[in-house]
Amino acid sequence: MQAWQISTFGIDSLEFAERSGHEPGPGEVQIRIRAVSFNYRDLMMVKGLYNPKMKLPRIPCSDGAGEVTAVGEGVSAWKPGDRVAGIFMQNWADGPPTPAKTKGALGGDIDGVLAESVVLSEAGLVAVPAHLSFEEAATLPCAAVTAWNALAVAGLKPGATVLVQGTGGVSIFALQFAQLMGMRVLGISSSDEKLERARTLGLHDGLNYRQMPDWDRWVLDQTGGEGVDLVVEVGGVGTLPRSLRALKMGGTIAQIGILSGHGEQLPLPLILHKQARIRGIYVGSRRDFEEMNSCITLAALKPVVECCSWLQVRDVLKKMEAGAHFGKLAVTVDH
Ligand SMILES: NC(=O)c1ccc[n+]([C@@H]2O[C@H](COP(=O)([O-])OP(=O)(O)OC[C@H]3O[C@@H](n4cnc5c(N)ncnc54)[C@H](OP(=O)(O)O)[C@@H]3O)[C@@H](O)[C@H]2O)c1
Repeated sequence: MQAWQISTFGIDSLEFAERSGHEPGPGEVQIRIRAVSFNYRDLMMVKGLYNPKMKLPRIPCSDGAGEVTAVGEGVSAWKPGDRVAGIFMQNWADGPPTPAKTKGALGGDIDGVLAESVVLSEAGLVAVPAHLSFEEAATLPCAAVTAWNALAVAGLKPGATVLVQGTGGVSIFALQFAQLMGMRVLGISSSDEKLERARTLGLHDGLNYRQMPDWDRWVLDQTGGEGVDLVVEVGGVGTLPRSLRALKMGGTIAQIGILSGHGEQLPLPLILHKQARIRGIYVGSRRDFEEMNSCITLAALKPVVECCSWLQVRDVLKKMEAGAHFGKLAVTVDH
């Protein structure tokens, strides 16, 4: 079977290689991958910035969807033909995270899904919503589950205000979920066109952070000086100080990403004065994924995804590197 693999770090070094597949053993399931979506993590992984010590060669990517082609001895949960996606951390089924549960991340600790076929444990899969194409379903395992949990940890009611940063995979899912939950969503982006597009998904107000870097002031203006109930924080060091200033007293920052390189010193007193809750999010469990899928099915929610071909993987990663995308990027796997 063919797969993309990292043998040497760098987008242009990504190899299209022949790999030996294997039959599913006891408790294992073989999946014919039909589509794969990309996360910023995959880009960092390929460039050697996520884990420079990663053992190579490694097949990247955590997010794929496909159909079951064979099951090993003792597998009762799945049968050939079932439409499934792998869960991000193969060992985290339920409950709070532990060091053991958070090992086994696809496309990092173990080989990922940028391959024609994969074999995973039966416990490492979820059924994908029936109304989604494989490309749409492939967007869910990392970005969508992360956005879902960012909203869940804040415990907000309809009418609350959420700030999303940028228009990438996590942020657009956060916008879609918050909109479904009856919340007011403010957003910042580098592009007026992307903000316009986000408005069609329910964004209430947006600001171009390139044109107005002190977006925390704008957020305060938009909220009568109060600030937002939740910041879905994907910027990291460069945005966290402003996120704290833009936060309501007692509000939550869901700390997710590390997109920005450097920033001012953290205004630590603000954390105390605002009694801010800063909660780290690391994707989520299989149960989180299943609960999110129930909501996606009920709401008939459609992920926002641009699809390219199986041989365009390097171009897709370059597009992500340039920040030229909106929502998710995926490839359809040709067989
Ligand atoms: N903790 C977790 O479990 C978890 C899970 C998923 C992702 N992440 C992390 O979350 C971050 C986002 O991931 P993703 O896959 O959604 O990325 P992505 O799809 O590549 O989205 C990146 C977008 O963020 C915006 N952005 C970049 N720098 C920004 C800044 N300084 N301020 C505001 N917005 C900025 C840009 O949108 P505009 O062009 O609209 O400005 C850019 O296109 C990454 O750091 C990733 O590693 C963490």
